[in-house]
Amino acid sequence: MKRIVFHRLFGVLCLTIMLGMGVMSGVAYAQQSGAVPGNTTGSVNDSEFWRSIRQGGQGLVSIPNKTAGIMIQSEGEEWRSLRNGPLSTYGGYLLALSLGAIVVFFLVRGRIKITGGRTGRAVPRFSQPERWIHWFVASLFILLGLSGLLLMFGRYVIQPIIGKSAWSAVASASLQGHNLLGPMFVVALLIMLGVYMKDNIWQKGDLTWALKGGFLSKGHPPSWKYNLGEKSWYWLLFFAGLAISTSGLLLDFPWLVERVQQLQLAHLVHAGAAVVLIAASLGHIYLGTIGVEGALDGMTYGYVDEKWAEEHHGWWAEEAMKTRGDVIEGAGETMPPEKAPAE
Ligand code: HEM
Repeated sequence: MKRIVFHRLFGVLCLTIMLGMGVMSGVAYAQQSGAVPGNTTGSVNDSEFWRSIRQGGQGLVSIPNKTAGIMIQSEGEEWRSLRNGPLSTYGGYLLALSLGAIVVFFLVRGRIKITGGRTGRAVPRFSQPERWIHWFVASLFILLGLSGLLLMFGRYVIQPIIGKSAWSAVASASLQGHNLLGPMFVVALLIMLGVYMKDNIWQKGDLTWALKGGFLSKGHPPSWKYNLGEKSWYWLLFFAGLAISTSGLLLDFPWLVERVQQLQLAHLVHAGAAVVLIAASLGHIYLGTIGVEGALDGMTYGYVDEKWAEEHHGWWAEEAMKTRGDVIEGAGETMPPEKAPAE
């Protein structure tokens, strides 16, 4: 029995030595003759062969995805470290800063009330299509924002709590949902930007609103339909929204680009612009709900109280009442009773 085992071991050892000698002599031949393993890249020796790979040289592959011929893509590492480093870190700081600023603003300024009290007369502010597109875009924005933030920060915040396998399911669902809703958002955003553009063009007097203290002012500096703060939100949405949309479409349909580096750049633009927009949207949402009494009425029912219109958008209110002549008396009939301005 022992003898059989010994013979087998000896056989395996001899085979290994023979194979090893074969490989060594092959490598030695390749080095001597200047050939490279596989002789595919046209390099003359091993170091050039590996240097070419390290520098992102592309070899030939027989599958349709030709970029699979690149073994090492250094820009990928740069992208990874930018995404997991400064982008996540400063993005997180920006969101925290925005939340902090809102809390400080609330503590210092409090809720901006309708100082003169409601009059009970309602002024039409937003048509139904205007409100529909606003809420459609807002809903998509919130879903995309939440799923995007999960993909960006979830690995650090959620994974340690729910574990790797549950996180993997959440991340995959977020990614699928995000990719699906993205194109819908692009179309809806374009419609909304078109619908709201006219009144967001800068006008004479916008700066006066800001110079008189804007939201910080204790009084009510007059403004047009939108004040400079709202117009800045619109134009931020315009530029950042278009950047997010274009880069997002490239990420959703990667065959539109030629090089993977373009996708990495698109991803950085997409995530960077999205974080800026999410941080700003927190301010918009605060002012539209808790921050300014009576503002939400316009986007919910289409009407605002006349006093609210005069205090916040004096110049617009004058025009709206003069030109439209459709101020609605007894707004209780037009608005749901619980929301109707007090008589
Ligand atoms: C729950 C979230 C939101 C609330 C409560 C809200 C509330 C409001 C309100 C009350 C107005 C009317 C302001 C006025 O009458 O002057 C408004 C306008 C507007 N909102 Fe929102 N909003 C929300 C989310 C969003 C989001 C996510 C976006 C963009 C992606 C957005 C974009 C706009 C735009 C473009 C306007 C028109 C005014 C302007 O151009 O500044 N909103 N919103």
